[in-house]
Amino acid sequence: MVPILSAQNVSKHFRGLEALSGVDFQVAEGSITSVIGPNGAGKTTLFNVIAGNQAPNGGQIRFRERVISGLAPNSICRLGIARTYQNVRPFLGLSVWNNVKVALLFGRREPLPSAREDAEIESVLEFAQLTAHPARKAETLTPLERKRLEIARALATDPEVMLLDEIVAGLSPAEALQMMETIRVLNGRGITILLIEHVMKAVMGLSSHIIVLHHGVKIAEGAPKDIARDQEVIRAYLGDAGEEG
Ligand SMILES: Nc1ncnc2c1ncn2[C@@H]1O[C@H](COP(=O)(O)OP(=O)(O)OP(=O)(O)O)[C@@H](O)[C@H]1O
Ligand SMILES: [Mg+2]
Repeated sequence: MVPILSAQNVSKHFRGLEALSGVDFQVAEGSITSVIGPNGAGKTTLFNVIAGNQAPNGGQIRFRERVISGLAPNSICRLGIARTYQNVRPFLGLSVWNNVKVALLFGRREPLPSAREDAEIESVLEFAQLTAHPARKAETLTPLERKRLEIARALATDPEVMLLDEIVAGLSPAEALQMMETIRVLNGRGITILLIEHVMKAVMGLSSHIIVLHHGVKIAEGAPKDIARDQEVIRAYLGDAGEEG
């Protein structure tokens, strides 16, 4: 079967720094696939390249058979690939409602008939547990609510694929469990999930497949149980911890 998303030999460098070198991977349709790796491994850069925020210096990203690398972020979003940001970035001066409305108006493959817009926004806010104060400005939201708003904005574009960059990290244990459940429900709706996460409980509990990056190179991939005992992966994490400590 053709993977819903794939990378062929993708490279991205910033002056002398190889943020990604020759990265290949495939994401199976309907899966929850995780991208892990120590700080600076190139994970967010990979999302930037997939979502069109940055063009790769080499290689290609495909959405099914179609090459999407080189397209603008709004075009990629309209094809059905939505993302959330590690450093969440709502329109701070806009209300929660209008943040979702912008995504709904500009990010969808098929524009929604205007008579259905309000009901759709309502339903997205309900899913993201944000119905309490739709008129609140995004700048007044707590960190958890901002993460929920990221999910809501992505969901409002009616995506086939969601790229979630550290959506669990930074939450309390109870909030993290809730967010994991949210991710499961999104996946249950048929949305393929690509997840960057440092919280291993989330990675191990959610993913069917894990891709490991280290210094811009894919050093391993496989099922969670195999990745957990992969010597090179363990070395990458312990090595970096050792350098810091
Ligand atoms: N725009 C940029 N200009 C220069 N260097 C960059 C840029 N973006 C990322 N880098 C560098 O590329 C490398 C990979 O960064 P990236 O943000 O992709 O890592 P990451 O795996 O997401 O890390 P973290 O877990 O800390 O979020 C890092 O060394 C980073 O400093
Ligand atoms: Mg990152």
